[in-house]
Amino acid sequence: ARLAILLSGRGSNMLAMAREVREGVLQSVAEVAVVFSNIPEALGLQAAQELGFATASIDSRGRKRTEFDADVVALLQQYQPDYVVLAGYMRILSPTFIRAFAGRILNIHPADTHQHQGLHAYEWAWENRLPETKITVHLVDEGLDTGPVLAQAPVDLRGADSLGEVERRGLAVEHRFYADTLARFISGQLQPQVASTSSHP
Ligand code: GRF
Repeated sequence: ARLAILLSGRGSNMLAMAREVREGVLQSVAEVAVVFSNIPEALGLQAAQELGFATASIDSRGRKRTEFDADVVALLQQYQPDYVVLAGYMRILSPTFIRAFAGRILNIHPADTHQHQGLHAYEWAWENRLPETKITVHLVDEGLDTGPVLAQAPVDLRGADSLGEVERRGLAVEHRFYADTLARFISGQLQPQVASTSSHP
């Protein structure tokens, strides 16, 4: 399967995914077709370049969402991706984008998407002193972190004494779990669970 990985920042999930493609659970299952960013100077894009991946960017700043997304879809289609993997891609996707890759766009959210959506998920877990949080991999729909859940993984936060420690533990899980989940999804082992209506505790 051909992957288009989309990022806006440092790209640690992209790097973890790339490692699993080269020598892990995605070896001989997936290849990185392109790494794309809406931020041309994103660190993750530079890292992808250094690894020898095809990279592309279109600056989203000052662009209208639908027009920008149409450009991104046209660009991505040149690489014929089977899956679009969001890895810290800080944009809500327009209906045009969702339709172009319907059912084949994945995202990782560092919380239970039934309880927390959007930015600052680790801050939320830390400030509420949660003993455990969940990493969610889900299919992307037109909402913010609202699409059908593919799988969730627990992160033990007991004894974590700083936000940095919460993030470290969470990212360690993210980096294994995203590729594992993608591998299982590609092989047809996962049925998307349609999100129930949000239930804030
Ligand atoms: C991760 O925590 C991911 O779950 C969230 O954004 C962050 C991206 O980090 N969607 P990175 O750029 O992959 O290091």
